[in-house]
Amino acid sequence: MSDILDQYNAYPYPERDPADEAKRLITGSPSHPVEIDHVLYAGNRDWSLPFDVLVAGGGTGDALIQLATVLTRAGKPHRITYVDLSTEARRVAEARAKARGLTSITFQTGSLLDAAEYGQFDYIDCCGVLHHLEEPVAGLRALRAALKDEGGFGWMVYAPYGRGGVYPLQEAFGALLAGLTPQERLARARALMESLPKGHPFKLNPHVVDHKQSDAGFYDLLLHSQDRAFRIDEWGAALAEAGFEVAGMCPPALYDLGRYADPPEDMDQLQRMAMAERLSGTIRKHVGYARPTGAAPRKGAGMQAVPHLSADPVKLARAVAAGKTLPVTSQGVTFDVTLPPEAATVLAQVNGRRTLAEIARGAKTDPFLFQGLWRKVEDGLAPVGLLQMSRLGL
Ligand SMILES: C[S@@+](CC[C@H](N)C(=O)[O-])C[C@H]1O[C@@H](n2cnc3c(N)ncnc32)[C@H](O)[C@@H]1O
Repeated sequence: MSDILDQYNAYPYPERDPADEAKRLITGSPSHPVEIDHVLYAGNRDWSLPFDVLVAGGGTGDALIQLATVLTRAGKPHRITYVDLSTEARRVAEARAKARGLTSITFQTGSLLDAAEYGQFDYIDCCGVLHHLEEPVAGLRALRAALKDEGGFGWMVYAPYGRGGVYPLQEAFGALLAGLTPQERLARARALMESLPKGHPFKLNPHVVDHKQSDAGFYDLLLHSQDRAFRIDEWGAALAEAGFEVAGMCPPALYDLGRYADPPEDMDQLQRMAMAERLSGTIRKHVGYARPTGAAPRKGAGMQAVPHLSADPVKLARAVAAGKTLPVTSQGVTFDVTLPPEAATVLAQVNGRRTLAEIARGAKTDPFLFQGLWRKVEDGLAPVGLLQMSRLGL
């Protein structure tokens, strides 16, 4: 525990400057409220109800700031509890929240293993933390104990194949640099990196870049004292042990075995996903959502659903009208999406506020034809993460 605390106090992760909050909002998965709604609530969450969130191992605050900023801008009632072991990471997260004038956050210094002491939550974010615990399942159980039965959980954990070359280096640096301060370890490891052969699998791996971005990134990737990667079926089993089931992956297409081969009938869903992971070979992290095992499925909003595009709707509509194939890349895998040209008028109407009924009227499409056309849009764009449904009202 103390090695980890020393690391995150010396190099709070990720490296962030609170002054940058004036220039940009960092958004991403998991834990954008639109994505939470899309995956966990079938795009139909009632955002007039309070949303109680725990950000567990919140680090320097990326998910925290995204959640608080988006929900505050949308004017939705919410409360967020941040907890992290590292006081230095918390200091950065607090400064970022202050720079934005966010008032919905309570900061706590402590362990996520005590999560239930902070309350019962509608949603828990835990990004990049559980694979660093001595017993990840104990962490998952602690989070389950803090989650309401109808709540949801967003996570990121490391995946093995896209992290080729990382683990031999972690082992070697761990043994060679034991007993040094974090600063000395970093300097020595950076020097050692220079002497590695050009053909080292890590040097040939284009999918991991953290070490090039900051000292905190280098340390987190190559000098971590406790780090394990999960294949998706292993992670699914860990979730199940703690009382969770997978609700959805980001983006789902990465785990679709059908894109490579006919899925054998005797494989269950997690085995199929793991086979897709083996075949892609490039997935370095799993991002997804889970809900308590056996939770009742949510109902969508039908024609009152509100679609959001994570690409510029006008540019997208233009490309579709011109019959172009859209390449969408995620974690080293490129998916080619093709939509019928008549979908262009519909796409141009999507603005994150209009309902499907309004879009159908605006595009002057016959309601019956619209249903068929919209299905093609959804089937093409949602699996690659370009389309999500939420009545958040951004
Ligand atoms: C890799 S960082 C991830 C930070 C943040 N979630 C993100 O994705 O940007 C891991 C964080 O987890 C924290 N952490 C590790 N073990 C923890 C525990 N048992 N309880 C709470 N925080 C923990 C560390 O202090 C560190 O800030």
